[in-house]
Amino acid sequence: LTCARDHEPHVSLLAYLRAVGLTGAKEGCGEGECGACAVALVSREPGQRARLLAVNSCLLPLGALEGRTVWSVEGVANSDGSLHPVQRALAERGGSQCGYCTPGFVMSLFCEYYRDGRTEYDPEAISGNLCRCTGYRPIIDAARLTARRMFMWVPQRHLMPPSACLICASVGFFQAPPFAAGVASESASASAPQVREKNSSRPEATRY
Ligand code: FES
Ligand code: FES
Repeated sequence: LTCARDHEPHVSLLAYLRAVGLTGAKEGCGEGECGACAVALVSREPGQRARLLAVNSCLLPLGALEGRTVWSVEGVANSDGSLHPVQRALAERGGSQCGYCTPGFVMSLFCEYYRDGRTEYDPEAISGNLCRCTGYRPIIDAARLTARRMFMWVPQRHLMPPSACLICASVGFFQAPPFAAGVASESASASAPQVREKNSSRPEATRY
């Protein structure tokens, strides 16, 4: 889908996602404070490897996303229906009660999971997510558990989720994602308007 072509450019990405039935992202505050609406934006800077950035979809007008690729929580689980490691860790550690904040935490941890150069879990990864009922200890435990598992079993990490890895797709290990559960576009445009990353306080992150 090319968002701006089919919808009014001032409509927020969150409103758009929910209007097309992708209701995993939630509206909490509607003003960039709670992270319940977080999604992953694929960033392809010239000369750099692609990265996943957690962004608040309530603050993103569709007009700023022409040519950009966005990953919503519906596209996080594996194609066979099994949970992604960050989802599994949240479930195992009891990191969700009412669940309203959970998709946002999943997306923040999803981006952290694939952060290039990561050696451990960065607490700043979820600094933009609020939870009103679970408490943060189980969520942080889940993040640590995910990091430990990853380095035990996957010495060569993918920069991107395996299903989106063009190398794997080209050699047939995985199919390229249909992006049916997310919002897909052809390629990033260098001239596309930039957007602000959700956790802009993270020191090493590029700020938008
Ligand atoms: Fe709270 Fe978007 S709804 S940050
Ligand atoms: Fe209820 Fe986080 S699980 S707000």
